[in-house]
Amino acid sequence: MDPYDLILNQNKEHFDRINEELKKALSSRVSLIEDIGSHSLLGCGKRLRPLLFVLSCNLCEYEGENIYELATIFEFIHTASLLHDDVLDNADVRRKKPSANHIWGNHAAVLEGDFLYLKSTSIALGTSNLSLFKRVTTTTAQMTEGQIMELMNTHNWKTTQEEYMDIITSKTAVLMSAACACGAILSGSGPETEAALSGFGLNLGIVFQLIDDLLDYTSSQEEFGKPVGKDLKEGKITLPLIYTLAGLERSERDRLEVLFKNGNADEEEYGKLISLVNEKGALGQIRHKARSYADKAARSLAVLPDSDPKKTLLELNGYIIDRIY
Ligand code: FPP
Ligand code: MG
Repeated sequence: MDPYDLILNQNKEHFDRINEELKKALSSRVSLIEDIGSHSLLGCGKRLRPLLFVLSCNLCEYEGENIYELATIFEFIHTASLLHDDVLDNADVRRKKPSANHIWGNHAAVLEGDFLYLKSTSIALGTSNLSLFKRVTTTTAQMTEGQIMELMNTHNWKTTQEEYMDIITSKTAVLMSAACACGAILSGSGPETEAALSGFGLNLGIVFQLIDDLLDYTSSQEEFGKPVGKDLKEGKITLPLIYTLAGLERSERDRLEVLFKNGNADEEEYGKLISLVNEKGALGQIRHKARSYADKAARSLAVLPDSDPKKTLLELNGYIIDRIY
């Protein structure tokens, strides 16, 4: 069995209750909102972010009834960001299905993203916990910063490793960090626990995006659930390419930049560059880097006493580094 399915099986009650709450919160008097929401959210997705939140609440022994409703905050933000991201990327496939923008067009997809994002903030506001509300809203602002930085670096073949790390930390890792930290914030567990969970989620989130960008060079559409090789086609300069370029002669780097930047590359050239990235050892370097962030995530939790939820969080950390889709 796939390792994530195994984790989900062990956490089936969490998974089912998160899905129940997602379905409930999606209801709207406007049928198109429900249709796009059901398509984008229900029956697909790993529910990683809400699961991180629920496990963090359990770790902090939070006793509130509303854990699962609050967990939807993180899936709604995530799905809203994907709806917008697919419009920005002009993507046709998401979560192994046609993307919402592909079916309903950009306008409807952006508005659905707005609806889901506002749904998440209204659920967060319902807690009357201002620290939680602030964490949720500042996180989304930072995700937008990450996305804008990515936009600014599109087709920038001089993008540095530091710039890339800043982008992925902002666009991806901060949401996982917030999902973990909010368990501590809600429970009032204090700054040490909050920092431990926050650091765990941040480092795990960095691993997630490092592997996501690596799989874009190595996976297949059937496994990955979205087309591969698309970062390069979208002009996104991710770490596999940054590492590979660093190992090339200046003249070769310049030749490739001109070829790909001006849109003169054909399918064969794309294939050749992907093979080059695979041959030059960049992928091994990235797995190594991801491993060091996964270790950092695990070390962040080390200050907290052992418990079942902590064990599951560490299992998730292990899954993320080994995942193949
Ligand atoms: C997917 O990354 C996109 C993100 C991780 C973040 C997108 C963030 C925003 C659009 C800003 C926040 C907006 C809202 C409404 C909360 P990717 O393009 O690397 O992954 P992909 O290959 O799956 O598309
Ligand atoms: Mg994208």
